[in-house]
Amino acid sequence: MNQVENMQNISSYEAADGLLDDRVILISGVTDGIGRALAVKCAALGATTILLGRKVPRLESLHDEIVEAGGPQPGIYPFNLETTEWAEYEKITDLLLAEYGRLDGLVHCAGMLGELSPIEHHDPHLWYRVLQVNLNAPFLLTRAGMPLLRKSADPSVVFVSSTVGRKGRAHWGAYSASKFAIEGLAQVLADETENIPMRVNTINPGATRTKIRRAAFPAEDAGQSAQPDEVLAPFLYFLGPDSRGVSNLSVDSQPKN
Ligand SMILES: NC(=O)c1ccc[n+]([C@@H]2O[C@H](COP(=O)([O-])OP(=O)(O)OC[C@H]3O[C@@H](n4cnc5c(N)ncnc54)[C@H](OP(=O)(O)O)[C@@H]3O)[C@@H](O)[C@H]2O)c1
Repeated sequence: MNQVENMQNISSYEAADGLLDDRVILISGVTDGIGRALAVKCAALGATTILLGRKVPRLESLHDEIVEAGGPQPGIYPFNLETTEWAEYEKITDLLLAEYGRLDGLVHCAGMLGELSPIEHHDPHLWYRVLQVNLNAPFLLTRAGMPLLRKSADPSVVFVSSTVGRKGRAHWGAYSASKFAIEGLAQVLADETENIPMRVNTINPGATRTKIRRAAFPAEDAGQSAQPDEVLAPFLYFLGPDSRGVSNLSVDSQPKN
């Protein structure tokens, strides 16, 4: 299926206790916002999380929070998705193979807004930076993760999109273009993996109270957007066994009004 589709009841999916027991899940962008909330929840549901982010103290405090809550010991992977050379990504494969032997889940939560600006005034440098973090890095991380995902009996890749990744909107520039491209990357990968037990899906979390949202809508009343832990249902669905065989979907975390 190559069309954007909203699974009607996915936003109210309820994860059962132990849903992610024994799964190894790498999440990018865990130092803040949705990625952080997802890492905490995945660990609470039994997953061993690999925490990828560029701010070591924040990775360490998340690590400690998970351990103190009784979750499986997470791994920490300090990594700057904007500045790291592509050859460095290949080291991820070897390191994680040696440490974990496989990956059952890969979630690309990291994201960068850049600037809201008309195309004719868009800063080219910022354009490249946003495409690097929001598109090239997920490509490189997925490429590095493939040998690990192939070792899993039930692997799942989740990309994070946006409303402006499905319909262009004035001034959303590189961010919008990068999210359209993520939808495309997910579809290509889903098609390529159609005949192996791997699923690839895309989630639009919708308006969520995070750093990115505050930067895009500085005057917005905080009560108008969801909390990060309120948009996780589709992520948990796609990471757990209930979505086995469900691939190539592009869904929303929040029902449309
Ligand atoms: N919030 C919304 O309303 C909304 C709506 C639609 C889609 N999304 C998408 O949801 C995803 C999560 O965003 P969020 O809302 O949770 O925003 P957020 O709170 O700003 O979190 C973004 C995360 O990405 C990380 N990141 C950014 N650049 C990085 C880099 N160069 N290297 C490593 N990590 C980097 C950030 O790390 P630092 O802490 O180091 O900056 C942070 O952990 C993004 O893909 C975003 O586009 C959000």
